[in-house]
Amino acid sequence: MAESTTPAAAIDAPPVRAEDFEVAARAILPKGIYDYFAGGAEDEAALAGNRAAFARWRFRYRVLTGASDPDLSLELLGQRFAMPVQLAPAATQKMAHPDGELGAAKAATAAGVVYCLSTLSTTSMETVASAAGVRWFQLYVFKDRGITTELVDRAAAAGYQAIALTVDTPILGRRERDLRNAFGMPAGFQYENLVGPLARAGPADLGQSALAQYFSFQLDHALTFKDLEWLAGHTRLPVLVKGVVRADDARRSVSAGARGVIVSNHGGRQLDYSIATLDALPAVVDEVGGDVPVLVDGGIRRGTDVLKALALGARSVMIGRPYLWALAVGGGDGVRGLLEILREEIAVSMSLLGVRRLDELTPDLLAGP
Ligand code: FNR
Ligand code: LAC
Repeated sequence: MAESTTPAAAIDAPPVRAEDFEVAARAILPKGIYDYFAGGAEDEAALAGNRAAFARWRFRYRVLTGASDPDLSLELLGQRFAMPVQLAPAATQKMAHPDGELGAAKAATAAGVVYCLSTLSTTSMETVASAAGVRWFQLYVFKDRGITTELVDRAAAAGYQAIALTVDTPILGRRERDLRNAFGMPAGFQYENLVGPLARAGPADLGQSALAQYFSFQLDHALTFKDLEWLAGHTRLPVLVKGVVRADDARRSVSAGARGVIVSNHGGRQLDYSIATLDALPAVVDEVGGDVPVLVDGGIRRGTDVLKALALGARSVMIGRPYLWALAVGGGDGVRGLLEILREEIAVSMSLLGVRRLDELTPDLLAGP
């Protein structure tokens, strides 16, 4: 009788797609940490919607183009990258694996892509800088503007090449998994860019999220385009605005000094029922794509997802959860493996699509919803 594959065998098999890492990570991570990484806000409709949007687009591929040896490289903010997949900022990566941010940043560097470090990292920005290639710093604005300014200036001094200002998180969305788990930072972890009371979130009372409390006590809830203007004027680094889903906000961001826009709904972790980022992308590209690069994140799990986003006008994409799962499973080597899988998927799909270069990816290659 033929043996069916047991779950254990499936976990032991080497991952062949990004989502395989999640299955393995779930088996390894404590429930509270898995749920914090995986979860979204409330009904998790925005979370699911990001994924669902990709499935609605199909390829109208070209044949007999003679396209071979696809070139996955691109230019972004004056630098060249090996492929259009960057690592999105994600907090507290040592909760995934002791390699933490350093392991992920080294993997990004080896793959020739950007590593964007979160303000709320469990490795200091200087330590990451000592090992990483092109790195961006994601900024949360504290009520104490002095602390914010210091973070930005430290990032510039440590050779970060851009600031990604996250604007979709005036307060934390209601993540019900975290409320049920009374999620807080486990003992032994801290926010290494910060000191004193700012260095830890937690522990949480029953039914609370320590992270939500941290945001509500420590972070500025009332940012405006004036604050963006202030930041763009304060630093010589290019500022990207992360968390935009509307053309008018994208235009106002660029007018206020943003040098790039990241279309994002924070991976469905903030406002539930937010528009899927792939659905939000074309209008933002129409409005500002001629002036600044537009990036997108949320639900990207496949090389074909990357190609769909680029065909709709994104310069590059970012991934969040997939590399946290890969980190959990294999540390920095896991992230390297993940990026290699994505590179391979992109290359194969470009060949089958009949394109050699990323700038040949145009909307006519897609059949839309
Ligand atoms: C995030 N994200 C995030 N964004 C940000 O600007 N600063 C941060 O510190 C974090 N932290 C964070 C933690 C975890 C566990 C997750 C899953 C996400 C959002 C992240 O940058 C990105 O927008 C989404 O993760 C993209 O969606 P996918 O790829 O996870 O579907
Ligand atoms: C999150 C925050 C830290 O999404 O950005 O958990």
